[in-house]
Amino acid sequence: MWDFTSPRKVIFGEDALEYLSELCFENVFIVTDPTIKTMHLEKILAQLGDSKVTVFDKVSGEPSLDTVKDGACSMIEAKPDVIIALGGGSVLDSAKGMFPIYSQPDILIDGLSPFEVLDMRKKTNCILINIPTTSGTGADVTWAIVLTDLSEGTPRKISLANRELVADITILDPVLTKTMTPRLIAGTGMDAMCHAIDGYLSTWRNDFSDALSLHAFKLLWNNLPIAFEQAKVGEVDFAIREKLHNSATMAGWGFGNSQIILSHSLAHTIGAVFKIPHSVCIGAMCWYSLMFNQNYESERICDLAKLVGYTGTAGEIVTNFVSSFKELLLNLELPLSLLEMKVTEEEFQSNLEDLIAFAENDSGTLSNPRSIAHDDFITIFKCVFEGKDIDF
Ligand SMILES: NC(=O)c1ccc[n+]([C@@H]2O[C@H](COP(=O)([O-])OP(=O)(O)OC[C@H]3O[C@@H](n4cnc5c(N)ncnc54)[C@H](O)[C@@H]3O)[C@@H](O)[C@H]2O)c1
Ligand SMILES: [Fe+2]
Repeated sequence: MWDFTSPRKVIFGEDALEYLSELCFENVFIVTDPTIKTMHLEKILAQLGDSKVTVFDKVSGEPSLDTVKDGACSMIEAKPDVIIALGGGSVLDSAKGMFPIYSQPDILIDGLSPFEVLDMRKKTNCILINIPTTSGTGADVTWAIVLTDLSEGTPRKISLANRELVADITILDPVLTKTMTPRLIAGTGMDAMCHAIDGYLSTWRNDFSDALSLHAFKLLWNNLPIAFEQAKVGEVDFAIREKLHNSATMAGWGFGNSQIILSHSLAHTIGAVFKIPHSVCIGAMCWYSLMFNQNYESERICDLAKLVGYTGTAGEIVTNFVSSFKELLLNLELPLSLLEMKVTEEEFQSNLEDLIAFAENDSGTLSNPRSIAHDDFITIFKCVFEGKDIDF
């Protein structure tokens, strides 16, 4: 038996933010970061009438457990009846981490299990509304949280999951993405594309996640390069931005109800150890993951490639698709290797053992279509460091 978890409502399209004015809240708690506060908070406040509003704006990129605990303390004091998370994946994950602590202050958040009954809504009479500002993580609809644990020597990314963490309402308004830089569009768009690919290739895939992953992949492949080129010359085409924004959420829905694979095990690990933002490293890690898995999941990789116009024998399609994927990364001006991400040989060698240990324990390794041995990880990480093809 399996189940598909999703928010109660997804509001989308230009002016979707106006939906907030149709709701009636007494006490609103907004979680955001300093950049988004400056750029977009006013647009939310304008929809909230005379509700009491508390703003927690201390979220930083790749948020830590400490940030979540800090925000939860303010939340407990404010006693909101709605939490609004306004920002990229870092903000959304932080708010999703604060809500269980608000409902149960003595909970050990880093030990949160998928099987725990939290009853957060009943205990607090509060709901969660997610408003993503990147076309990106899909964290607005997933039941996972990715946080950085700084309590031990080497920073480590931990993924926590519980179905109650899924938002009640997600609001997708492409107007919020107008301020994204070309670099952010490229990186977060590749994160979404990687979610679509992972969701389709993971061993936990199912009919429902397949449908979402495939359509999201097609929309992202066709629209991301255009949005990036337009943004470089200061152009914003809202029809294209809307496709990206919707498909990032669809991809989140897909992988959130399937799983991630090797790409994310690698990205989580190097992201935490070398402090590289997820959006900067995930595209390249998806390319390594495709190379490692290509002979084990060729039929499914072919499905993806055919959807965006590749023809020929199965072998030709897979080879051409994987090499076009690398081209896409180059066109989006994203780095391909740890060297290009400014990691030195010394830093790499001194952290190699931790990298392998963390990647082996990441949930993406468990659901990767090809099993990954310890020695495979050594070779994979060496390729990732130098930017070399994986050919075994
Ligand atoms: N929970 C999940 O299912 C899931 C899935 C994938 C990634 N993640 C996590 O999400 C985090 C990354 O999120 P992200 O890639 O969205 O980036 P982010 O939230 O870290 O934001 C990156 C930067 O972009 C800025 N930004 C955000 N929206 C903007 C906008 N519209 N205009 C201008 N600047 C904007 C932010 O202020 C920040 O400085 C990582 O911690 C990653 O591990 C979670
Ligand atoms: Fe991701």
